[in-house]
Amino acid sequence: MPLPKAELHLHVEGTLEPELAFRLAERNGVRLPYADTEELRKAYEFADLQSFLNLYYELMAVLRTEQDFADLADAYLTRAAAQGVRHAEIFFDPQAHIARGVPMSTVVEGLWRALGNSEAAHGVSTRLIMCFLRDESADSALETLEAARPHLDRITGVGLDSAEVGHPPAKFREVYEAAAALGLRRVAHAGEEGPPAYITEALDVLGVERVDHGLRCLEDPALVERLVRDRIPLTLCPLSNVRLRAVDALTEHPLRRMMEAGLLCTVNSDDPAYFGGYVADNYHAVRAALGLTKEQMRELARNSFLASFLADDEERRARYLAEVDAYEFSAAVP
Ligand code: ADE
Ligand code: ZN
Repeated sequence: MPLPKAELHLHVEGTLEPELAFRLAERNGVRLPYADTEELRKAYEFADLQSFLNLYYELMAVLRTEQDFADLADAYLTRAAAQGVRHAEIFFDPQAHIARGVPMSTVVEGLWRALGNSEAAHGVSTRLIMCFLRDESADSALETLEAARPHLDRITGVGLDSAEVGHPPAKFREVYEAAAALGLRRVAHAGEEGPPAYITEALDVLGVERVDHGLRCLEDPALVERLVRDRIPLTLCPLSNVRLRAVDALTEHPLRRMMEAGLLCTVNSDDPAYFGGYVADNYHAVRAALGLTKEQMRELARNSFLASFLADDEERRARYLAEVDAYEFSAAVP
């Protein structure tokens, strides 16, 4: 039985496996510029974040109907459950779909077909987090929030993703203020490729409660001190960092140092169909590469629930934490 955990940094569009991409392409009469899944997989060689995003946005062309989004999310939840995920806070990128003529309602209601049934079908509780694309304009983000208003009963929070460098958080001050006024929780990608100042800005200007990635905080000791003091969770994605060359190798990943510095670290999969592993695969990979102990693995799982947006269901959070505390590691784990 896998260690119970929450996944807090997962782009649903990044769970599109090549087999499902081709199946949806055929269903929707969309032509992909790859002969087959094998040829598509050969394109999964990334130099940086942008080279990945190019393919990520290209493949979204196959997602057209509510059922497509439902099938995508259901395939993720099936895999997540098998990896010990008990709770998933799932990002989606509405602007990337609206720009292709797929309305917000198709995206949200399609995802909800799977999420609304996830506890019964998979034993996984869920939340949805709507991300703004930071390489689009602030006005476009405001329009997106407006388009989401009829669906806010389905949406727990807002996030900020896509190409980071050159798109600092402050550009989105107004839309984050509006989101906060609507009672939405706030997170943002910061410090994945961008400088530590973007992390500080996400905290100070956008009021984020959790930082996605946050890897480059280590370059600013005062920021590390603040993140430790204020118990700001970081959603780290180790296999993603290797594939997008934010770190040279998993053995060089700073996760262990970050935990030992007192940072509230979580481990997540980001875009698992593209980066070679789902969340338990990330846990196993860092354990092996960094020599994490059982108690450090348990700390990561505990942190995932502590950092989750389960404030509206503390009873459930306590139940999940108790499951982590009672978990017995197999002898294979040091
Ligand atoms: N969109 C999907 N995955 C992303 C990542 N790792 N960073 C920024 N934007 C993303
Ligand atoms: Zn991400």
